[in-house]
Amino acid sequence: MPTRSILLCGGAGYIGSHMAHWLAEHGYRVTVLDNLSTGHRDAVRWGELILADLLDPAALDQAFGGRRFDAVMHFCARSLVGESVSQPNAYYANNVAGTLNLLDAMHRHQVGKLVFSSTAAVFGNPCSDCIDEEHDKQPINPYGASKLMTERILSDAAHAYGIRSVALRYFNAAGALPEHGIGEAHRPETHLIPNVLRAALGQGPALKVFGDDYPTRDGTCIRDYVHVQDLAQAHGLALHYMDRADGAHAFNLGNGQGFSVREVIDCARQVSGRPIPYDQAPRRAGDPATLVAASGKARELLGWQPRWTELAPIIDSAWRWHRAPPHWFPALPA
Ligand code: UFG
Repeated sequence: MPTRSILLCGGAGYIGSHMAHWLAEHGYRVTVLDNLSTGHRDAVRWGELILADLLDPAALDQAFGGRRFDAVMHFCARSLVGESVSQPNAYYANNVAGTLNLLDAMHRHQVGKLVFSSTAAVFGNPCSDCIDEEHDKQPINPYGASKLMTERILSDAAHAYGIRSVALRYFNAAGALPEHGIGEAHRPETHLIPNVLRAALGQGPALKVFGDDYPTRDGTCIRDYVHVQDLAQAHGLALHYMDRADGAHAFNLGNGQGFSVREVIDCARQVSGRPIPYDQAPRRAGDPATLVAASGKARELLGWQPRWTELAPIIDSAWRWHRAPPHWFPALPA
């Protein structure tokens, strides 16, 4: 039976809201479940919103009862690396125990397919500059550990309950779809591109570049930036993949090209036409020098074809979003 009705957990967040847009555009029925702890009610523009927390099994039962879902997409997570080091219990509770509750509810209500948001943080400090799925997984913080544990749980759930799953390990999610009223709106904002653009707009505290003594071409960290719309496309393809493949699977998602922090700043300067002042700062704890994905498996088995393969258009989409944010965009710190 074709997969048409999707429960989108975390659909009020950054990547989840782009997923909702993609699903609606491709003819799926979307129901968003979110506790709005970091997501935004106004970002739920496609489908009904169920206000519920994965840590509340009764609320999950209520969400699943009376509705028929063909698959679940799971974007709910705490995802700040530094915070995970200072508040590990919150990360294991939300990211691991929350997913266990979700799997229980899926099992009870006979929903057999899950697409799960995983992360490059499962690899820890990689020993290769281009990371494929087989690379060693030694997370260096509770955030990465919580995601790797969940991947393991998904593999056990496939075996025990027959729940099919695809874990998608994002490298650096970036960009926005301002023409559809969605984009990145985190508070606090820790990510590079929004902070760079805020500096271009002359807003908030000065931009800091964390570390200039990494073993990279200019001493700053190198990352693989992938547009959220391309991530959404991969999730859509994962639904089809689960129609033909049982078990639990994992794919790395990135463009395969790394950019240093300074290259991102230079590119944003060109895109915005504005100066971008910054202060050089010490290294940020937990940052690996280089994270670049080898995404051949996703291309081959899912048929994934990222459309945003250049950095400038990715930054330009984020620039258009930050330059003219919607009324609900959270207030910037002074
Ligand atoms: N950076 C700065 N200044 C800033 C923000 C970031 O110099 O104001 C640097 C960081 O130190 C890092 C690079 O820019 O070198 C990218 O940082 P981001 O915070 O944008 O992204 P991360 O690579 O730290 O994080 C991403 C995901 C996480 C995931 C992690 C895996 O957002 O969810 O990759 O390492 F856990």
